[in-house]
Amino acid sequence: MKHFLGIDIGTSGAKVLALAEDGSIAATAQSEYPLSTPQPLWAEQDPQLWWNATQHCVRKVLSQIPAFDIAAVGLTGQMHGLVMLDKNGEVLRPAILWCDQRTALQCQVMTAAVGEDTLIAETCNPVLTGFTAPKVLWVRQHEPRIYEQTAMMLLPKDYIRWKLCGVFATEVSDASGTSLLNVPKRRWSTKVLSALNIDKDLLPRVYESQEISGEINVGGAQATGLLAGTPVVGGGGDQAAGAVGNGIAQAGIVSVATGTSGVVFAASDAPTIDPALRVHTFCHAVPDKWHVMGVMLAAGGSLRWYRDTLCQEEIAAAAKAGIDPYELIIQSAATAPIGSEGLIFLPYLSGERTPHPDPSARGAFIGLTLRHTKAHLARSVLEGVTFGLRDSLEILRDMNIAPDSVRLSGGGAKSTFWRQMQADVFGCDATTVQSDEGPALGAAVLAAVGAGRFHSVEEACEKLIKTSSTISTDSSRAKIYNRSYQEYRTLYPALKEHFEKLGNLGDA
Ligand code: XUL
Repeated sequence: MKHFLGIDIGTSGAKVLALAEDGSIAATAQSEYPLSTPQPLWAEQDPQLWWNATQHCVRKVLSQIPAFDIAAVGLTGQMHGLVMLDKNGEVLRPAILWCDQRTALQCQVMTAAVGEDTLIAETCNPVLTGFTAPKVLWVRQHEPRIYEQTAMMLLPKDYIRWKLCGVFATEVSDASGTSLLNVPKRRWSTKVLSALNIDKDLLPRVYESQEISGEINVGGAQATGLLAGTPVVGGGGDQAAGAVGNGIAQAGIVSVATGTSGVVFAASDAPTIDPALRVHTFCHAVPDKWHVMGVMLAAGGSLRWYRDTLCQEEIAAAAKAGIDPYELIIQSAATAPIGSEGLIFLPYLSGERTPHPDPSARGAFIGLTLRHTKAHLARSVLEGVTFGLRDSLEILRDMNIAPDSVRLSGGGAKSTFWRQMQADVFGCDATTVQSDEGPALGAAVLAAVGAGRFHSVEEACEKLIKTSSTISTDSSRAKIYNRSYQEYRTLYPALKEHFEKLGNLGDA
């Protein structure tokens, strides 16, 4: 049977998955790697880590599926990261990642140079610190010798394409997050590039997500065990590919994906822009489709911080019992009452994007009393993250995208307790899909379309992605959550100026 490979270059690790023609998941492999923060608010990663992890995971999958059965490969990964290569294709500096917040000044410079109206008309979005273009300006300003040597700038998954195929290419969904793409026209924006004086030759060729962008070359084959000549499709940014893996190929369904970041995502038939510019408008990984999405920066990231900082006991107990520490954390959260007895967690541990585009925003526990226990802390972290996701959902509702149900994926879809909390806080049904394999599955679906197994991404999603369980809102719980949520919304505006001052204290 033919199989399609999805390769996901995530923030905390790589994942490779083989999707069989019949829709079953035939094999998966994962490998973690670290992220470095050389300065407060910076986030970098060595692209070699991605490549090592890719080789390891592909080989592991190929120990179960013969390479001649792999009909095509699709790539996905963390968006917005800047990889700079010299003329020999060698990496010049560590990649600057999506969650890096160093570029507040460059965002202002870029907006002034391009003009806000042109920027919105061309890229459909304001420029934000996480996006790629301000990172380019930062390197040009602070590391001019690196910039001078740069012959090619790539996004994370597209670096893996370069290693596998020796081609410089990207695709529309990931390119949308650079602030350099004309999003309505799905090609690089000559207006933005010329205003910034960035040479278009430094950028890769842009494909549609299901289009074949290259083939595994001899070097890629030797490194991974894949057969030379295997086609590699464009793929997608992790959110667009994740949405495809969740069956979101057309307007009408909204997904909520909780990874390190937390994303509320809706497909659309046109590049619809929020008049207040609070959510992103990007190309979808489906021809002639776009999407709007709200991105909170530390969703699963907040829970991971809580685990790693305050839960050594739970980590040890879970290791003994052979279970995931998150299970114990969530069990403990479930013992605290709804609303955590007036304790509210603000999840802005990495600054924030939606709905507060503010690199200085900070996390907080607000309302602690002697009565509060660790169970309350755990519950308030889950509630704060879920309130942050609701903020994005409310913006979609303002834009008349009002779903009856949302499709959950990622860490937030794993526990029944958290799924119920989302259904109660969002005020709509929460559904899950049978194979919650995230972006890697979406990339494999795109590969299946590129290989001709399906006529369109829409058809592939319809045939391959099936929903499993649905949880409904409990109206009495929803009421209690709603009171906490209304309070939560007032806290960021009240603290905004204090966050800035705390950053200036130099203890960040
Ligand atoms: C999307 C975004 C994150 C990263 C990492 O705009 O910044 O979701 O792609 O997952």
